[in-house]
Amino acid sequence: MCGIVGYVGPRSAQDVVIEGLRRLEYRGYDSAGIAVESQGELSARKKSGKLANLVVELDEHPIPASTHGIGHTRWATHGGPTDANAHPHLSQNGRVALVHNGIIENFAELRAELEAEGVEFTSETDTEVAAQLLGREVESGAGLVESLRAVSRRLEGAFTLVAIDTAEPESVVAARRNSPLVVGLGEGENFLASDVAAFIEHTREALELGQDQVVEITPDTVTVTDFDGGEAETRPYHVDWDLSAAEKDGFDWFMRKEIFEQPKAVADTLLGRWGSKGELVLDEIRISPETLRRIDKIVIVACGTAFYAGMVAKYAIEHWTRIPCEVEIASEFRYRDPIIDPMTLVVTISQSGETADTLMAIRHAREQHAKVIAICNTNGATIPRESDAVIYTHAGPEIGVASTKGFLTQVVACYLLGLYLAQVRGMKYGDEIKALMDELDTMPAKIQKVLDERQRVLDLAAEFAKVPSVLFLGRHVGYPVALEGALKLKELAYIHAEGFAAGELKHGPIALIDQELPVFVVVPPQGRDQLHDKVVSNIQEIRARGARTIVLAEEGDTDVEPYADVLIPLPRVSTLLQPLVATVPLQLFACELATQKGHDVDQPRNLAKSVTVE
Ligand code: F6R
Repeated sequence: MCGIVGYVGPRSAQDVVIEGLRRLEYRGYDSAGIAVESQGELSARKKSGKLANLVVELDEHPIPASTHGIGHTRWATHGGPTDANAHPHLSQNGRVALVHNGIIENFAELRAELEAEGVEFTSETDTEVAAQLLGREVESGAGLVESLRAVSRRLEGAFTLVAIDTAEPESVVAARRNSPLVVGLGEGENFLASDVAAFIEHTREALELGQDQVVEITPDTVTVTDFDGGEAETRPYHVDWDLSAAEKDGFDWFMRKEIFEQPKAVADTLLGRWGSKGELVLDEIRISPETLRRIDKIVIVACGTAFYAGMVAKYAIEHWTRIPCEVEIASEFRYRDPIIDPMTLVVTISQSGETADTLMAIRHAREQHAKVIAICNTNGATIPRESDAVIYTHAGPEIGVASTKGFLTQVVACYLLGLYLAQVRGMKYGDEIKALMDELDTMPAKIQKVLDERQRVLDLAAEFAKVPSVLFLGRHVGYPVALEGALKLKELAYIHAEGFAAGELKHGPIALIDQELPVFVVVPPQGRDQLHDKVVSNIQEIRARGARTIVLAEEGDTDVEPYADVLIPLPRVSTLLQPLVATVPLQLFACELATQKGHDVDQPRNLAKSVTVE
């Protein structure tokens, strides 16, 4: 959601900024813009639609060469995605250009104040208020950094602001509160961006900023202070993936590439977790075993696909630890006054580590003195930084908007957490935990097998290209898999899709079933699971009403064969681990169907990768 790039150094600012914005396209946006400073004047170009429109605009109406500039991809909140509302916004006096990610909640009163002073606004955005305020501050004689601090102190809400000033051609400044911003540390050049993908081809050294900080970059310096000008704490880090991870590598879509990266992503997330003393080790858990032994409730909080990973986690964690575990959508969590206290362990799951709803849930939980563990894929993101502990998933950058390897690795991290809690609390013997870890170690090869046998699922996509609606059913951990299958189809193929707990079907949704409706059913492993037969009965109920059944079942499951119009075999795994193989065909199906419908799979309409506003 919104991408920001700032650059100062020896190169062409236009080239660096446009390339940076291209690498941030995956975040989701509907207009783009750039501003540079040259010879004491600002030049800006802004276009609604894709970045390509901005590039055409720059060809037709070039801006002067400059080594100092800012750029932005905007996901519209206040005001439609028009050229005028696109960022950067310039102050009326022409002194500053500014881009913004977030929402300025008190913008209406600030706008009224500025209008009363005679400022004429040229857009409907909340952002322009910050640009005009900054223009007024620099005009009064304060330096750019000091002016940005003064503006930041007046703003309420969530914001990353990045600005340039014609009077200070060697600096780009930024302020951050509740929205993402990282600094890229180059040699004789420095970068500001929403995430490291924007500058990874120039440097892998980065600086993580904290809340309420202001940063000034020049070609040779990076200075960070708090909003009052006091010292600020930052954390330098090395990005452990390179440019190739952010390239499509011969695939048509990042999403498809990421689906195929899942065996490695799962293996990397499991790597190094079994210690030399023959026990599960989670180095990043900075909460003492004594504290973990006292926990009497777990609350998992997340959004979207990550929430479904949390639903899988609930089954595993309760089964292995016997600790009551709730799962809650982050945007609902804090507004219902949840019952949490110092004995509650809150587990947040977020691929990006920047999802605003999840972040706010953490803050609420910590205010109630609960301990918070984050499961996150992004080093240096806000959510792990504000948590007591973190388990990093090692999926590498996830660029496709729809989460795939993010989901599978989140599920793996949840299993690790569940087993770790079982170990610490003495709920499982060491050899039981080892047996489960050994089975987890077999999962990358099993996921690979599902990928190798993908043809049947890809063929299905061609058959179903025109269906208006699809149902997904599952029970136990198959239920969140069904929900995830439906979500993938909605967001990529724009087809109405619903996921249901198969046992709920008779309580209403069965009325939806008619001839030709495709129904995907995730069947629990045969023989070892009491729910297997119940799901087989559910399939017969659907078939009896004429629907087409696409059944995902363990290979060799003969019970289910007679009732499956299409049978997708899954490798043999224990029930709790089945989501790691059962989700993959559903990801492939959605990706393929969307491709056949001619949709942009990596950037589906209206969606943003990282949802940084509540
Ligand atoms: C769906 C999807 C979203 C995210 C959700 C949370 O494919 O990707 O539903 O899972 O926005 O994002 P993170 O995990 O970054 O907090």
